[in-house]
Amino acid sequence: MTSNTYNESSSSSSSSSSSSSSSSNNDNKTPVLDLGEIGVGLMQWGTTKIDERVVNPKGNLSDDTVQELWKTCRQDNKVVFFDTAEGYGGGTSELRVQQVRQWYQDQEDQHPNNNKNNTSSMEQNKNEHDHVVIVATKYLPTLWRWTKGAFYRSLKGSMQRLGVRKIDLYFIHTPIHPLPLEYHIQWACDAVDDGLIGHIGISNCPAELCWRAHKVACRNNKRIACNQIMLNLLVWQSPKHRETVRVCRELGIQVVAYSPIGQGLLTDGLTLDKFSKIRAVKMTGVQYPDLMPLRLELQTLSEKYNATMAQVAINWVRGHGAVPLVGCRDLAQTKDALDSAKFRLKEEEVQMLDSLSLGLSLFERPSWRRNLFVIFISILQMAYSAELKWTEFRNKLTDGAVTAVGYEERIGSGRKWHQA
Ligand SMILES: NC(=O)c1ccc[n+]([C@@H]2O[C@H](COP(=O)([O-])OP(=O)(O)OC[C@H]3O[C@@H](n4cnc5c(N)ncnc54)[C@H](OP(=O)(O)O)[C@@H]3O)[C@@H](O)[C@H]2O)c1
Repeated sequence: MTSNTYNESSSSSSSSSSSSSSSSNNDNKTPVLDLGEIGVGLMQWGTTKIDERVVNPKGNLSDDTVQELWKTCRQDNKVVFFDTAEGYGGGTSELRVQQVRQWYQDQEDQHPNNNKNNTSSMEQNKNEHDHVVIVATKYLPTLWRWTKGAFYRSLKGSMQRLGVRKIDLYFIHTPIHPLPLEYHIQWACDAVDDGLIGHIGISNCPAELCWRAHKVACRNNKRIACNQIMLNLLVWQSPKHRETVRVCRELGIQVVAYSPIGQGLLTDGLTLDKFSKIRAVKMTGVQYPDLMPLRLELQTLSEKYNATMAQVAINWVRGHGAVPLVGCRDLAQTKDALDSAKFRLKEEEVQMLDSLSLGLSLFERPSWRRNLFVIFISILQMAYSAELKWTEFRNKLTDGAVTAVGYEERIGSGRKWHQA
């Protein structure tokens, strides 16, 4: 494959190459990846009509917003960890990552202070270090994917859409599939050996599955870098959740906390109307009055620290050693999340919030309900695929005309990279 030219990706490959040294260190309980203070989730970056209906009812993010968000996150290396998935927008979130990175690189190259010819080699190394970005994506084990070939096809599809030669961190999106998780971990280990993946992550795995994934990784002289789970004040009372976090710590698996602000349930200005529209309400079954004691304490702490409730909720996640992964729809939300690093909760404050937390963990749900979710996700992927094919077909009919959300345009950027 041809090489990718922009700095961020080439240096991200160098971050990935550390996996070979870390992978031999199976006894090490220290996580293998430093994801920084906060990660930014890109589930909201899909561009299809389905995204508009399911994920972004307020409207899909414009290209300008996406560029603004990336720039804000990357300035001074505030954020190094970005999280997407082939399942987000049927791959259109991944395509946007490639486009915005290329845009950002172009901006940097045009900056008058950025004359690469004048920089000493030491300065150049520093720049490369400054540009380390970890873009994670995820393999979705849909019901029709059963083979290593299907796993590799999916992986290579993500590589193409992201425009990279190696994926920094590759998650198995969910362990729920008739095939035991061991198969997926083995294929991921093989992909590390083939130089296609830097680090392996699991997602939505309770304690027992962390052990099983860890064993397969150890057999292959690798490590499981992260477990991405819902971790917020809506779930902490769940014994299964606490045990999962404990086991991850024991195995040196970094916990990545998705939905740290409960998709808005743990933020200022929640109204009954907003409450009823938040997906996490359906997912967790939370009742509005049950949230009140918790929200009151979040409010008290936010006043104490002159912060927002979202910032307190994000800091609670840090208090448990997890990396918060926040989904931001605009610049204000992004700045709010980044500014959460300006203070730390005291241990007793974290404990007070622990005592008020709820136990609405998906891990506590009957397995048939979680299986239903995977069926839903598989159907959603079929719907994405149908929409993208239809858009492509329509664009061909109109003689290659490209719409703002056009599949042809987005796939086109992937092709551009292949021809480079
Ligand atoms: N592995 C998995 O299975 C999985 C599952 C879910 C998510 N994730 C990842 O985790 C990321 C974050 O999770 P999430 O989006 O579910 O939950 P979240 O970060 O708890 O909530 C994000 C939502 O909260 C609102 N918000 C964000 N910042 C805010 C602020 N400062 N103040 C008030 N409201 C704010 C926004 O919605 P409004 O604008 O509508 O208010 C935003 O869409 C995702 O992008 C994705 O990368 C992974």
